[in-house]
Amino acid sequence: MSKVKKCLFPAAGYGTRFLPATKSVPKEMLPVMDKPLIHYGVEEAIDAGLDEINIILGRGKSAIEDYFDKNYELETELQAKPKKLKLLNPINDLIERGTFTFRRQGAMLGLGDAINKAQSMIGDEPFGVVLADDVCETGSEDGVMKQMVEVYEKYQCSVVAIMEVPNEKTESYGVIAGTEEESGVYRVSEMVEKPKPEDAPTNLAIIGRYILSPDVFEILDRTEAGAGGEIQITDALKELAKDGKVVAYKFKGERFDCGSVDGYMDAMNHFYTKLKNS
Ligand code: G1P
Repeated sequence: MSKVKKCLFPAAGYGTRFLPATKSVPKEMLPVMDKPLIHYGVEEAIDAGLDEINIILGRGKSAIEDYFDKNYELETELQAKPKKLKLLNPINDLIERGTFTFRRQGAMLGLGDAINKAQSMIGDEPFGVVLADDVCETGSEDGVMKQMVEVYEKYQCSVVAIMEVPNEKTESYGVIAGTEEESGVYRVSEMVEKPKPEDAPTNLAIIGRYILSPDVFEILDRTEAGAGGEIQITDALKELAKDGKVVAYKFKGERFDCGSVDGYMDAMNHFYTKLKNS
């Protein structure tokens, strides 16, 4: 059985909902309190044992590469101010615990395309995918990725994390249908990307956490543009689901959609309260 060691972060998008802020700052670098969005996802992945971090970048995203690298000049400047120097511990800790590889997506043809462009970095092994927009809080439970690794190890096939959303919100998500095999784990039979509420098979929506088996690449190679004119990972997974090779896992915890202004503010308030009470 292959262990899941790699995690992919598609980070090429424009982040248009936060313009003009995202004109020159990658949306993944917007702060939620004292850490940029992508920090939360990378920490969650490394905590789950996925310490080979692969990040797919777009143009103007080099701040992400710099974030996951030492800044010796800053550290030298702060030598005389140990309290301030200590503020770098959370990121230096991640840099120490993980390895970081970057590549450009080039043409941006959708999430499925971004994942497919990572084929050479991933090779023939299972891998996690984290959409950094989705920040998850699991309190005393394991992080979402760690919960999913357990599901992967048991079912030995691709896993998508899901949550229930109000019916009128299905159009913002990939939506699944399936049969519940055990509490919170569904064998997926149907997947639709961004269905209108009347076309949605259920209200079980995929969030930005996946563990994918490498057989998805061969399907992505021939997946055509779908919803929004983009190559969708949901469409590729739908094909695997036909053979019973996808399970959906209702994760324990809370997810903040930091790709939206409301979700971003909720995350900010949540982590502000958490930091204040720590
Ligand atoms: C992507 C996926 C979608 C999923 C969502 C979760 O959509 O295509 O299936 O439900 O992430 O955040 P996006 O939000 O990038 O449009």
